[in-house]
Amino acid sequence: MRTKYCGKIQIIDVHKTVQLCGWVHKIRNFGQFIFIDMRDYTGLVQVIFELKNIIVFKKAIKLKNEFCIQISGIVRKREQKNKNLKITTGEIEILANTLNILNTSKSLPLNYTNHNYDDSRLKYRYLDLRRFDILENLKIRNHVTYLIRIFMKKKNFLDIETPILTKSTPEGARDYLVPSRNYHGKFYALPQSPQLFKQLLMISGIDRYYQIVKCFRDEDLRSDRQPEFTQIDIEVSFMNSKKVIKLTENLIKHIWLKVINIDLGKIPKISYHESIKRYGSDKPDLRNPIEIIDVSNIFKEKEFILFFDVNCLKHYRIALLCISQGAHLSRKKIDTYSQYVKKYNAKKLFYIKIRQLNLGLEGIESSIKKILDENILNQILYKTNAKNGDILFLIADEEIIVNKSLGMLRLKLGNDLNITKKNIWKPVWILNFPMFHKDFKGNLSSVHHPFTAIKNMDIKKLKNSPDNAISDSYDLVMNGYEIGGGSVRIHDVNMQKTVLDIIGIKKEMQNKKFGFLIEALQYGAPPHAGIALGLDRIVMLLTNSTNIRDVIAFPKTTSATCLMTNSPSILDNVMLKELGIKILKK
Ligand code: AMO
Repeated sequence: MRTKYCGKIQIIDVHKTVQLCGWVHKIRNFGQFIFIDMRDYTGLVQVIFELKNIIVFKKAIKLKNEFCIQISGIVRKREQKNKNLKITTGEIEILANTLNILNTSKSLPLNYTNHNYDDSRLKYRYLDLRRFDILENLKIRNHVTYLIRIFMKKKNFLDIETPILTKSTPEGARDYLVPSRNYHGKFYALPQSPQLFKQLLMISGIDRYYQIVKCFRDEDLRSDRQPEFTQIDIEVSFMNSKKVIKLTENLIKHIWLKVINIDLGKIPKISYHESIKRYGSDKPDLRNPIEIIDVSNIFKEKEFILFFDVNCLKHYRIALLCISQGAHLSRKKIDTYSQYVKKYNAKKLFYIKIRQLNLGLEGIESSIKKILDENILNQILYKTNAKNGDILFLIADEEIIVNKSLGMLRLKLGNDLNITKKNIWKPVWILNFPMFHKDFKGNLSSVHHPFTAIKNMDIKKLKNSPDNAISDSYDLVMNGYEIGGGSVRIHDVNMQKTVLDIIGIKKEMQNKKFGFLIEALQYGAPPHAGIALGLDRIVMLLTNSTNIRDVIAFPKTTSATCLMTNSPSILDNVMLKELGIKILKK
């Protein structure tokens, strides 16, 4: 139906006859001439209907925005004054000699030039996708997956699909479940990731597996989380963590270079503990230079412990942020930051404004001035390297509260005061995560997943002090987003059983849930390791989007619904009966 795409016509096509298909993007009627911007997925081109060609002109009068049309015409050069350098076809226009209206359109519920409410964008997603910016995101996503496939093929990886109707794997979220029609009361789980299948492939001797695969997790959603999302899932045999990190780093660097022409350089590595101590988070945004500075030692005397009311806490921390040139912040603004850290359970936020260093105590303004003396102040100034005009924000509390609240305040101040640099890339590997997390009742759960190998202990030691176990795992963080996570896996059946014991999964349950893995590990399972990268997050970063919804064709709302298809939806009684399901009233 066409000889060219709208956005691809160039100056070398002048005098050629072309046939185009697409949509009416914009219309301007000047009486003698009708100009339309015609759009297809490659871009826009200007088409002119002249009154001279009365048959076609009469048809063109009927055109409205978003009509689907086919035209043919002659490409001609625009006069210098009419050139539009904002579009790729801005040097030419098409003088139409035929017009075929392929379909009409109702007036749009969306406005492509103005802001639209998220709800209407999602309800009419197929129209929202006509916008060039969203389309561009999908093109970049396509470029990324293309690059991944070529890269993995060159490295001899096999792309293998794993089941979608499967059994629950513990990745930390709730499962989406699918009832079985044949076995009433039995359910499949949609995979939170292909974790166990990729391990089984290693036991099969596959050696190098990858898959670009949908995963499903029923968890609280945020701007970087969707209930169904896509992983670049990788697993290899006979490789240690160093090799997997190198392979992944090369892949990520390749993508950044090819898609946005950025050389990421060598990606630094820091330990989990260092990350928490310095940034209060295991996914630090290193574009923000502010760091948490520990001053627990400076305030170790009893009077301070009492003042800060940390005497009854087993693990307390006194720490601060030094904000360069932040002393101009008003009382009111400081109060909003005090309220902000309360959200993260910090009791109080103290501040010290440095007005004039050489005046000692006289040269500062502070909410803890009464407990400071020249000596303590000097120690603080020495430790923080604070300058005139800086402000220090201090929190003294339980260690985990101090880390979280100063970590979040660091991010907030970084944005509010434009300290966080834009347009730069700061990837970082986070290593040496603790293997287990202890809840307030003392129960242990896996920080990654229970198939992660332990770096520093054998079975005997692990049984005695699981609290100190460090996992052989690695997370990749980019500009504050976790874009990937993986680990070396346990390939010894007894170690696997011990880890499942430690996280409180009883033997019977171990066999019920993971019997197939436990069995498989006993047939010469090779040492293996892997990683999964979040494709949506990667594309979100590459496209400068702030929400992964903008890089997914048909995303869900933050309450996990699809406004376009109205899912989830109610099933009729016949279907429920067939599945053996009765709905209880809430
Ligand atoms: P993990 O749970 O860390 O590891 O997931 C890997 C990566 O997937 C992305 N991700 C998400 N992206 C969008 N929405 C979500 N709800 C979501 N959840 C996770 C993140 C994350 O880093 N099986 C292991 C991997 C392994 O050990 O090989 C796993 O799934 O970018």
